[in-house]
This record gives sequence, structure tokens and C-alpha cells, in this order.
Amino acid sequence: MKIVMLGAPGAGKGTQAKMIAAKYDIPHVSTGDIFRANIKNGTELGKEAKSYMDKGALVPDELTVRILLDRVAQDDCAKGYVLDGFPRTIPQAEVLDAELIKLNDKIDFAINVDVPDENIVRRMSGRRSCPSCGATYHIVHIPPKQEGVCDKCGAALVQRDDDKEETVKNRLKVYHEQTQPLIDFYEKKGVLKNVDGTVDSEEVFAAIVNILD
Ligand code: AP5
Ligand code: MG
Ligand code: ZN
Repeated sequence: MKIVMLGAPGAGKGTQAKMIAAKYDIPHVSTGDIFRANIKNGTELGKEAKSYMDKGALVPDELTVRILLDRVAQDDCAKGYVLDGFPRTIPQAEVLDAELIKLNDKIDFAINVDVPDENIVRRMSGRRSCPSCGATYHIVHIPPKQEGVCDKCGAALVQRDDDKEETVKNRLKVYHEQTQPLIDFYEKKGVLKNVDGTVDSEEVFAAIVNILD
């Protein structure tokens, strides 16, 4: 099963993709997470990606596509995957499509997690993530058991550099200009499924499972 998660920054793509990956035993592939891991490790790729991410801009397609195709060519992706944060532009979607066609394959579901802009800035300011295992929390909606500490691995939680209000506003602008057109793209392919992302994350997940099962 090959799934694409669509939705604005902060819509809950990552939260849901992790739950999907666990339930259906497929890898969770997030280009944002791959870039952040590279930034943390101080690689050249990380340095280049950071210069765009800090502004809330997109990393250039050429670089992003290369990283993604490399990742999905690995063995664990043979049984399927859930893509989170990719594709993010029409050219990225077209390259992915062309690669899948070569393999006689296709995206089975594009799940659009729908959350209006008004809710987004609030969500982002409350997000905390674990730099060690990648778990994500929200100080109000999905709090860790102990404040500032990851439930899963005990590491100290951090706020993402690009979650500052000004950067979030730019990410939203970029989303509407470059990523939202993908909703139409996947609608035309007949694989688009919309879910309401404003409800509790367990409820969002139940709606997704209903679609996938
Ligand atoms: P990326 O890491 O993909 O960030 P994003 O798309 O902006 O999305 P987020 O991770 O911020 O949000 P999310 O939808 O995953 O929400 P989450 O589940 O965390 O990309 C970062 C940057 O990398 C980009 O700006 C770009 O520069 C670059 N990049 C990445 N991919 C790229 C690509 N393909 N091409 C070019 N550049 C690329 O949830 C958000 C918060 O809400 C959390 O606190 C969570 O706990 C909480 N929450 C989740 N669900 C709910 C709920 N139902 N109710 C209440 N709170 C909830
Ligand atoms: Mg995410
Ligand atoms: Zn952790």
C-alpha cells in the first residue's frame, strides 16, 4: 500500500503518518525528518536544506526528489510506504508518478488532512518534538506524561526552529501557492480522500483507517 499525506503545515500529517506506519507495518517516509536528521548531523545536505527551511521556503525540487527516490528504493519500502511532506509541488508529484509507472505501480491513496489556517498557527506554537526518536507532542492537545520529556525515550523535548510565528505564516503561504494544487492532481487520479483534521487525533486516525481498510 502506497500512501501520500497531504495537508497544510501543522495539519497533523506527521502525527497520522506515524500511526498509519505502525498499524500497517510500512515505513513512514518524511522528507522534513530526513532534512532535520541531516541538519542535526551537520551534513552538506543538511546545511543546504537549512538555508531554505529557516525561511519557511521549499528545498529545491531537484535535491528533494533525489533524496526521496533514494529512500523509497530501499528494501523496506518494497511492501509500500506512507509519504509525509512529499510531494509538495506538481513537478515532485510528476517525477514520483513517472518512477512508479516504470515499476508498474501507483499511489493507492492521497489522504488530505484538512485544517483551516486559523487553527494552524496555534498548533505550531504548541508543538514539541523529540530530537532523539522523532515523537511529536502538543503542549495542550497531545501532552507528554511529564512536561518537556519524551514518553518514548526520555529525551528532552525541543521546539522546531521553523515553528516561529513569522516562519509558520510563510510556510502557509508557500503551501497555498505550491502544495495545495496537489489536491486537484490526486483528485483527477481518483485516489484523493479528505479527512477532517480539526478533530481529536484519534478520531482523525479512525477516519483514515476506515478509508484504508
Ligand atoms: P515538514 O517537516 O514536512 O513540515 P510541514 O509540512 O510544514 O509539516 P509539519 O511537520 O510542520 O506538520 P505536520 O502536518 O506533520 O503536523 P504534526 O503532525 O507535526 O517540512 C519542513 C520543511 O522542510 C519545509 O518547510 C521545507 O523547507 C522542507 N521540505 C520538506 N519536504 C519538502 C519537499 N517535499 N519539498 C521541498 N521542501 C521540503 O502536528 C502539528 C502539531 O499539532 C503537533 O504539535 C501535534 O501534536 C498537533 N496535532 C496533531 N494532530 C492534532 C489534532 N488532531 N488535534 C490537535 N493537535 C494535533
Ligand atoms: Mg511533519
Ligand atoms: Zn523520544
